[in-house]
Amino acid sequence: MALHSHLGHGIGLRPPHYPHVLDGSARADWFEIISENFMVAGGRVPAVLEAARRQAPIVLHGVSMSLGGVDPLNERYLGELKQLIERIEPAWVSDHLCWGGFGRHYAHDLLPLPFTEEALAHVAARIRYVQDRLGCRILIENVSSYVTFTHSALPEWEFLAGVAEAADCGILLDVNNIYVSSVNHGFDAQKYLAGVPVERVGQIHLAGHQNNGTHLIDTHDHPVPSPVWDLYRDAIRRVGPVSTLIERDDNIPELSELLAEAEMARQAEAEAIDGAVLEHGTWSPSNPTPVALRPASL
Ligand SMILES: [Fe+2]
Repeated sequence: MALHSHLGHGIGLRPPHYPHVLDGSARADWFEIISENFMVAGGRVPAVLEAARRQAPIVLHGVSMSLGGVDPLNERYLGELKQLIERIEPAWVSDHLCWGGFGRHYAHDLLPLPFTEEALAHVAARIRYVQDRLGCRILIENVSSYVTFTHSALPEWEFLAGVAEAADCGILLDVNNIYVSSVNHGFDAQKYLAGVPVERVGQIHLAGHQNNGTHLIDTHDHPVPSPVWDLYRDAIRRVGPVSTLIERDDNIPELSELLAEAEMARQAEAEAIDGAVLEHGTWSPSNPTPVALRPASL
């Protein structure tokens, strides 16, 4: 895979927007696609993907690798993903720091892990295997959660950092997921950001959620709310400019509305780095380079 720096502010490619991709009017900085939805040979999906990759960089985002599971990794899935990678040549590949099934029964959900040294070693070994199998480094995404394990021994951010270090992989930092989990579990989102190894962050996700009063649910069916924008600016101040994606999976609006949110992310990033100078490139799968910011006056 080629070197990448900052792709800009992209959107998740979803079926209601396929016509805009096919007629060339989508005009996004980049597209993230759900890998599993494009592991098909027929229908209009391959044509949509070919059209999208002619217009903008593509990033593959998986939802079913079950990196934290205890079932053996699904070799057929990994083989099909590798074929898709070879065909599409994505900017990078990501999946989630979670588990998603047991006994070959899939939960169709991104389930949280216990934050223990044992789980850390387990999932890191599986990520290393996946990276060898796919022939590229991957990014792992922090998930939102609604329950915790009583035997967790580490805060989530230490677990995430430890896994990324042990597996030598990148991080897809979902800022909305940090916010949702910080409210649900009562931790300080700033502490989370402070614990993330910035040199490994290759991408950020932004999304909306549902407020159920006693807890938040990561529904991806609303625009990005102001507390998440605030946390995004905080993340950018720590990490530096980084490829950012607006995620929307339900109640999907017109493409123009999503692109306007991507523009808001561009603005928020510019506000956050206000006057700072990027010294190095951002993280890339083949050449992880720390991002360092310094005030323009220095
Ligand atoms: Fe996400």
